[in-house]
Amino acid sequence: MSNQDKIKKLIDLRAEAKLGGGLKRIEAQHKKGKFTARERIELLLDEGSFEEFDMFVTHRCTNFGLEKTKFLGDGVVTGHGTIDGRVVYVYSQDFTVFGGSLSETFAQKICKVMDMAMKAGAPIIGINDSGGARIQEGVNSLAGYAEIFQRNIMASGVIPQISAIFGPCAGGAVYSPALTDFIMMTEQNSYMFVTGPKVVKTVTGEDISVEDLGGGKVHASKSGVSQFLVENEQEGILILRKLISYIPQNNLEDPIVTECTDPFDRMDDLLNEIIPDNPNQPYDVKDVIHTMADYGEFLEIHRNYAKNIVVGFSKFNGQPCGIVANQPNYLAGVLDINASIKAARFVRFCDAFNIPIITLVDVPGFLPGSRQEYGGIITHGAKLMFAYGEATVPKITVTLRKSYGGAHDVMSSKQLRGDLNYAWPTAEIAVMGAAGAVEVLHGRKLRDIEDAEERAKFIADHEEEYTEKFANPYQAASFGYIDDVIEPRNTRFRIIRGLQSLATKKLVNPPKKHSNIPL
Ligand code: HXC
Repeated sequence: MSNQDKIKKLIDLRAEAKLGGGLKRIEAQHKKGKFTARERIELLLDEGSFEEFDMFVTHRCTNFGLEKTKFLGDGVVTGHGTIDGRVVYVYSQDFTVFGGSLSETFAQKICKVMDMAMKAGAPIIGINDSGGARIQEGVNSLAGYAEIFQRNIMASGVIPQISAIFGPCAGGAVYSPALTDFIMMTEQNSYMFVTGPKVVKTVTGEDISVEDLGGGKVHASKSGVSQFLVENEQEGILILRKLISYIPQNNLEDPIVTECTDPFDRMDDLLNEIIPDNPNQPYDVKDVIHTMADYGEFLEIHRNYAKNIVVGFSKFNGQPCGIVANQPNYLAGVLDINASIKAARFVRFCDAFNIPIITLVDVPGFLPGSRQEYGGIITHGAKLMFAYGEATVPKITVTLRKSYGGAHDVMSSKQLRGDLNYAWPTAEIAVMGAAGAVEVLHGRKLRDIEDAEERAKFIADHEEEYTEKFANPYQAASFGYIDDVIEPRNTRFRIIRGLQSLATKKLVNPPKKHSNIPL
């Protein structure tokens, strides 16, 4: 074979590999409204930046005559490229090859990019579209999964790991995405479950569709397994690129501060008016976030889950920050099990990756009742407390309105090492709300008042007295628990100045093997 022929062979092999399972299967993929593994990578990465590995890998299985069917690349496309000039490692499962199912060599390809991402200290993005374990390979496939899981575990908190589910992801295969930092699902074509509808029907008798069991909407709103629900793959890929812009390459680096033309001292009068006079009237805390953040931008995480707390990323004068905010618009912003878990996980992500945390507080307390108690609100609420208390990144807290009881302590209070704790003049920092307080303090007296009118007046008078004394930020400020009471419209400026003053913050927790967060 001449050298020219050798080069031609390489070109031909590359062309063959790029076709994956062949044109027919690519067509079928497109018909379902899905991109192919390679198209997804092309859309995700900066143009022309993708460098592929292991294009010539094929499986080694000889069971069921499988040696007669081989595809170059063996069903997963792996390599690295850039997003806005920053290196990321990727793997993208190719459904056109054995339904994207995982063989021993397929797993080895994924492990190789994971190892390289760890060595390079760069994020890894995995695009999942797979029928699970390659049935013909038996236990080699199971072992392959476990190799990936172990790497996910070791990479956790070292490099950001992001999973996009753009097709099936079933059985034990779900546990790799579950071990990563973020899971994205599309509204259609995307599903995750430990056991599929057929097995569910056999074992439990429950008749349920794929979508209702593990579709994108279910995991975004009911289970909370997925942090991002997107309409389609294009939108998903744009969000993946955006997400990368807020996070650093690894745990030893800081997130990248970008140039900002939005004035750092921009004041917005809307904030002076946003809190209604009636303390029981809701407002949308997302309006507060959008008003304060650079260019009004906020990448919300877990948008459809535990809406009583809002978490996501924004920038302040170009500095990426995590935002945690109680949402008065939903269940009055109360802290319950799901909200605690959602926020705790987010706080821990930010802390692991050196992202300062801005906390906006308007919380009436923990949700009372047997459902919450039986569900373990004590353990789950403690998760959020633990996450805040353990976090060493800069923490700025702004109390907008209510901050009651245990929830006050949890929401990045001074004593949980909040660095800067500000309050708006509308803040109410107290052990509990006025109604509850009067009920407890004057219960005996109230029982003795029979006349309804007299009773109502008694309650109103005492509530007023309590409100006047405690429903303000000045009691807390007088003890130094609040560093300053600030004018709402000036909050952006105060946050930015706070972040600047904390940029060199050094805080190290005592050495230990690891903590024992209440799981
Ligand atoms: C080998 C597979 C495969 C698999 C699909 N294919 N899944 N090959 N192993 N697990 C092949 C099909 O034979 C077919 O080959 C091609 O991929 C496309 O599959 P279709 O069934 O035609 O596609 P579709 O109708 O879209 O259905 C997709 C599907 C279905 C829902 C994913 O294929 C399916 O149910 N597959 C099996 C899923 C499963 O039970 N996996 C094992 C789970 S247990 P041709 O040649 O016709 O194109 C597991 C354990 C992991 O994963 C444990 C880890 C700890």
